[in-house]
Amino acid sequence: MKRIVIAGVSGAIGGALATSFIERDPDATVVGLCRNPEQAPKALLFHTKGGVLAWDAGDSASPATVAEALEPIMAKGEGIDTFIYAAGLLHGSGMFPEKRLEDLNSDSMARAFAVNSTGFGLLVQALLPWLRHREFKRIVAISAKVGSIGDNRFGGWYAYRSSKAALNMLVRNLSVELPRRCRPVACLSLHPGTTESALSEPFSQSLAKLTVRTPAETAANLITVLEGVDEEDNGRFLNWDGSELPW
Ligand SMILES: NC(=O)c1ccc[n+]([C@@H]2O[C@H](COP(=O)([O-])OP(=O)(O)OC[C@H]3O[C@@H](n4cnc5c(N)ncnc54)[C@H](OP(=O)(O)O)[C@@H]3O)[C@@H](O)[C@H]2O)c1
Repeated sequence: MKRIVIAGVSGAIGGALATSFIERDPDATVVGLCRNPEQAPKALLFHTKGGVLAWDAGDSASPATVAEALEPIMAKGEGIDTFIYAAGLLHGSGMFPEKRLEDLNSDSMARAFAVNSTGFGLLVQALLPWLRHREFKRIVAISAKVGSIGDNRFGGWYAYRSSKAALNMLVRNLSVELPRRCRPVACLSLHPGTTESALSEPFSQSLAKLTVRTPAETAANLITVLEGVDEEDNGRFLNWDGSELPW
């Protein structure tokens, strides 16, 4: 993995992935996308190959601005070999995971869908010219096991669960279309495993029974999975240890 773009690089997992890629290969070009570029990890801010570009999943014009800014950093012909969408929203101001139907709120649903699903599709659309080269490329959505329809036995978390299920459907759709347009490619969803972050922090007490990893441990796990991915993995939903998850 030599030419990498990561969306959500100000987050715990996105930032740890960027840092790990740079530590593993200082020659890799790594471009991070996030709302406030100064919040990107230091390793990326000081990395000489790549950079950090402003991007907001809530702004539909943002992907075109990203594409324009990417051109001088990464030649389209050379292209991206790894695109990772690591942005995500579970809670925020006036937004908390719903416990029951009465908690459903149209604003929270719209915000969750914009960040957890639509943002991924619109970025892949904007980055398509960088995906047309002939080398193998990975298009990876950091999803969540709670977005699995087949695995949903507890209910609740309506906005997060349904927007992650929509993200998974975008991945499946792209796994049909992309091989026709930019083979060789694998487009997949990846559950990172429970990880210390701002997103998981409000649930730290209820997570006490689970194994919670540091962002660096999660990044190492995800990179191991990504190193083993090939065209056969196109359209799959994988756990952090490489095992298969039900859609
Ligand atoms: N942590 C876990 O246990 C866990 C478990 C399962 C799945 N995941 C998934 O892993 C991914 C990374 O989560 P994390 O744990 O690293 O959480 P995090 O530290 O809270 O990071 C979330 C990222 O999403 C970005 N984001 C939020 N709203 C955005 C918007 N409107 N436009 C652009 N970016 C926006 C944040 O940017 P700002 O810095 O600008 O807010 C940040 O970069 C998410 O997709 C999450 O659903 C995490």
